Amino acid sequence: MSDSPKKTVLSGIRPTGPAHLGNYAGAMRNWLRLQDEYNCFYSIVTWHALSSEYQNSRVIREFTFEMAVDLLSIGLDPERCVLFVQSEVKEHAELHLLLSMITPLPWVERVPTFKDMQKELAEKDINTYGYLGYPVLQAADILIYRAGIVPVGEDQVAHLELAREICRRFNRLFGEVFPEPQHMLTETPWLAGTDGRKMSKSFGNAIYLKDPPEVIKEKIAPMVTDTRRKRRSDPGEPDDCPVFTLHRAFVEKGRRDELAAECRRAGIGCLECKNVVIDSLVRILTPYWEKRALYEKNPGQVWAILEKGNHRARRAAQVTMGAVRDAVGF
Ligand code: TRP
Ligand code: SF4
Repeated sequence: MSDSPKKTVLSGIRPTGPAHLGNYAGAMRNWLRLQDEYNCFYSIVTWHALSSEYQNSRVIREFTFEMAVDLLSIGLDPERCVLFVQSEVKEHAELHLLLSMITPLPWVERVPTFKDMQKELAEKDINTYGYLGYPVLQAADILIYRAGIVPVGEDQVAHLELAREICRRFNRLFGEVFPEPQHMLTETPWLAGTDGRKMSKSFGNAIYLKDPPEVIKEKIAPMVTDTRRKRRSDPGEPDDCPVFTLHRAFVEKGRRDELAAECRRAGIGCLECKNVVIDSLVRILTPYWEKRALYEKNPGQVWAILEKGNHRARRAAQVTMGAVRDAVGF
């Protein structure tokens, strides 16, 4: 922990349900990759979840546990990163409040996700003060660890831009307290769900990491493929095949290129092609299922890991808040 030369990474994930393949291929897989190279803080962002789920707040605790189990089982190592729960480090709330004082209203109003999400989550009534502050809270998450690097997908770039602007404004007003965070754009492959639309929990088309192998097979086997392939003898185009988006994410390149070539000359049937990606998934997820079974038998261990992460995060956050209060003057 002490003065490692490693740069600090912070990222957050909202606990809104069990993780699916899209979450894994987008965020989680990158988190694993960064563990050794950086000083990583990974946060399960309960308050961000609350901003859209406040009408159903009681599920957030359970989803926090779910997310922790998913992350630990997929290979996040609590010895090599700090995995913690945002709302257990109250300093995030204090810094959010201070940042909200200096953030001009037009800056948050123009964040594109605000209006987009309001439309998308129309049934959820997120026309709230808290939701408007969503990216300001996100800025606090990052700045409170003086993180230099923030791995996020494309959809979060506007939030990162705002975090940088808030950072600069704070430093200009009160003195250089925070380094300016950079986003690390992580590849977020577009994954089809079982109905061919983007895989998403809210569409009910997701394949979950915790789905057992039979369920994965049952979900993938009936998926629509390239509609040109009415018969086994019709050649297809993998670029127009929803299933092949799974191949791109989970089948290694050499094998995948062979399959694509076979598809284009009708050398392989869709079922056989699907079986390749199913086998890959089973291979990737077997260690996950094994670890998951252990954690599920021992929930106390999961909460203890989080408790330790919360403690380490809190210590880091408290150091920064000391500097912040000095800079502000009280
Ligand atoms: N807003 C992010 C998302 O929806 C989650 C998040 C919250 C986050 N705080 C963060 C991501 C800090 C990176 C850094 O995915
Ligand atoms: Fe899709 Fe594979 Fe069938 Fe081609 S062979 S259409 S890539 S499932």
